Amino acid sequence: MSNRLNTTPNDLRAFWMPFTANRQFKKEPRLFVGAKDMYYTTHDGRQVLDGTAGLWCVNAGHCRPKITEAIREQAGELDYAPAFQLGHPKAFELANRLVDIAPDGMSHVFYTNSGSESVDTALKIALAYQRVKGEGTRFRLIGRERGYHGINFGGMSVGGIVGNRKMFGTLLTGVDHLPHTHQPAKNAFTKGQPEHGVELADELERIVALHDASTIAAVIVEPVAGSTGVLIPPKGYLQRLREICTKHGILLIFDEVITGFGRLGAPFAAQYFDVKPDIITTAKGLTNGVIPMGAVFVTSEIHDAFMTGPEHLIEFAHGYTYSGNPIASAAGLGTLDTYKEEGLLTRASELAPYWEEQLHSLRDCPNVIDIRNIGLIGAIELQPIAGEPTKRAFNAFLQAYNDGLLIRTTGDIIALSPPLIITRDQIDELFAKLRKVLMNNI
Ligand SMILES: Cc1ncc(COP(=O)(O)O)c(C=O)c1O
Repeated sequence: MSNRLNTTPNDLRAFWMPFTANRQFKKEPRLFVGAKDMYYTTHDGRQVLDGTAGLWCVNAGHCRPKITEAIREQAGELDYAPAFQLGHPKAFELANRLVDIAPDGMSHVFYTNSGSESVDTALKIALAYQRVKGEGTRFRLIGRERGYHGINFGGMSVGGIVGNRKMFGTLLTGVDHLPHTHQPAKNAFTKGQPEHGVELADELERIVALHDASTIAAVIVEPVAGSTGVLIPPKGYLQRLREICTKHGILLIFDEVITGFGRLGAPFAAQYFDVKPDIITTAKGLTNGVIPMGAVFVTSEIHDAFMTGPEHLIEFAHGYTYSGNPIASAAGLGTLDTYKEEGLLTRASELAPYWEEQLHSLRDCPNVIDIRNIGLIGAIELQPIAGEPTKRAFNAFLQAYNDGLLIRTTGDIIALSPPLIITRDQIDELFAKLRKVLMNNI
């Protein structure tokens, strides 16, 4: 007997969709059936301009030939190789190429399959590093309110989004949180980094005073918080966090799952802000979002601390069946080639001034209470409809989709992060469409 709710092949009910209003979607489906460069094609044959690089991941645009070809070739040559105690050449080649573009001092790469896995891997590396160094009393992890670090237990615990946490019990113990840096009363409509808020980094001193530095392994933050609505670090904030971490022997982890691979106009946010973390988490743009893959970057100091003891023993008891998968590695190489040939890892810095100007031109639209931007990222915060939080932005999302524009919303904030290949004409198209949506009484 079949478990199927319906035998029609295109019935939508069996798939429980992630982070989706399932009932609304299934009443009014939005399916993409094709994509090329900056545009998606919908099931009803319309073109939709991609204002969000998929989910902040398709940095080189869609269906790029080098990446497609690399995947096709690899699938016919070596489809899978065990990831433990065995290897294949492309995983090593990719690691070398990644280290070449990483911030100075990042010398080793640990592969995962997603941003969430990168975060949990980074937290485990931090805890284990403190222990192999003889500082095993450092078991605490410090995250930040409004942080998003994926949805596995580690990332959820250091993350600061109540809706993602409240259903899941006690989460990891020994976690504390810095305050978030969103201060619209002081910083609304700032272009680039806000002037106010550097002192929020000093809250780490308060947390250290409460728990004692000898119990704290690591602090994890997104250099620019993306998923909770684009919270841009105040001037000097990340530098101050770095200073306090160094002073107390605490590792600093930058979660660069969205800022990695050119989003701000440098390969990594660490380079853009000129702040050196000890560990960097990545995923998304690593393979242009095409094949699941993540990578955690560490310094040689961290890596080398594990390389002790008998040589036949595994140094770090962690890894995934698909760590460094051959097809993902090939996709990563094709992606890095595309980024390099087209200068995409720095292109956002050329586009940023025009992007900023066009984004802020929406300031006169109704219900807009803040606009903020950095690199090729923009956010428009809307006044919530009284008693119906999130609805105004969701209405904007639905209307934009119907008008041929993909935006992303979180709460009542519209977030924009187009592929880094966007042209000035397409920036104009994006903001003309968005203006129409915002003027339309959503
Ligand atoms: C900063 C950050 N960390 C982690 C994640 C989780 O990545 P994934 O959805 O690939 O698990 C995301 C996803 O948006 C992210 O923005």
